[in-house]
Amino acid sequence: MNKIHIGLLGYGNVGSGVVQWLRKGKKDFAEKFGAEFVLKTLCDRSIQKKDTSGLSRTTLTTKFEDILDDPDIDVVIELIGGMQPAEMIVVEALKKGKHVITANKELIANKGEKLFELAKKQGRHLYFESSVGAGIPIIKTFTEGLAGNQFHSVYGIINGTCNFILDEMTRRDYSFEEALAEAQKRGYAESDPTLDINGMDSTHKLAILVSLAFGKYVKVKNIYTEGIEHISHQDIEYAESLNLCIKLLAIAKKVGNEIEARVHPTLISKDHPLAAINGIYNAVSLEADPLGTILLSGEGAGQMAAASGVISDLVNLSGSGAGSNLFCNVPHTPSHLTMRTIDQIKTKFYIRFMATDKPGVLSKITGVLGQHGISINSVTQKTHNPAATVPVIMLTEYTTEKELRAALKEIHKLPIMKSKPVAIRMEKLC
Ligand code: HSE
Repeated sequence: MNKIHIGLLGYGNVGSGVVQWLRKGKKDFAEKFGAEFVLKTLCDRSIQKKDTSGLSRTTLTTKFEDILDDPDIDVVIELIGGMQPAEMIVVEALKKGKHVITANKELIANKGEKLFELAKKQGRHLYFESSVGAGIPIIKTFTEGLAGNQFHSVYGIINGTCNFILDEMTRRDYSFEEALAEAQKRGYAESDPTLDINGMDSTHKLAILVSLAFGKYVKVKNIYTEGIEHISHQDIEYAESLNLCIKLLAIAKKVGNEIEARVHPTLISKDHPLAAINGIYNAVSLEADPLGTILLSGEGAGQMAAASGVISDLVNLSGSGAGSNLFCNVPHTPSHLTMRTIDQIKTKFYIRFMATDKPGVLSKITGVLGQHGISINSVTQKTHNPAATVPVIMLTEYTTEKELRAALKEIHKLPIMKSKPVAIRMEKLC
């Protein structure tokens, strides 16, 4: 039997899921892989307050040194999240010759390059399957299943909390706040849900996917990010009437020697498979030669979904599962691709203007758009009331962000405008 001693840091939602599954799968792991996973030490800063029944053979501690300094521990599972002390713990663990499994997307997105180099130097594994899409095998799809493919695009719904919120707002008429509270109650959101809502959680995950798809480490700050805080019921309803739906999409494309990477609310056709990804589900659509397009989907957040990815890393580490080759999970194609800035990117837009309802209003708006070279595909006025402000919805043809922003700034200043125009990017997906 291959006995593997584990030091686990972080006994929260995901950590306790991992412990549960280690117990439940014990017999299976032994029979299928000849592996015995022993939880030697469990570290959590509030371990005294946690339910640790059934862990009588595990050392419980609040000090991470008890794991790092223990020569018998083979693998450190880092589930505390955030940058520090997680980074220091991962670095120290690798330096001390331990393998590391982490679900920490922020850490891998920001420090992956440095950490993979260190792991390589130390001859250790650094696995991170749960960092994107929880248990959906997205990382292993890149590094194993599609290891020989050339990627063109990645479209992902990779934040379960945002997808859940948009879905609850659409289907149940929940307010943004009600939907967020429900996501927190169910354990989907981060401890600080700001990172979910403002899009940064998706951005961390997209940075990881870009490195795997295109072999390029991108700086998180260079990925344009917009969250879902400003999405209103009104826009969700109007989108539905146009056979569109709003998703927080993480998008990366390679065109020639350039990469674009962005995260923002996006209108997509309700007929596209990504439109059917609801609730806590995540999905990633990959376009890659010579395969074509594939869609991976499943529960992308939550206790057991995340635990599943961690356990699969553990099995791989035991040397028995697929992917037991050293570094199969590491971006391996150093590349000199350049990043497009958001100003250079061209998309179609949905724009909602709140304007007074009188003759000539449309011509004033379209006049400014025309001066900026923005062509209009369709115009809809939702109500008619000369005494009131009415929503006017315009769908544009492809335009650069730069021109669109300049035009909207000008239009906002017109006396006929009653509030700031709302613009949502539209994407035609393959
Ligand atoms: N908070 C994340 C989400 C789950 O809502 O998708 C872990 O990545």
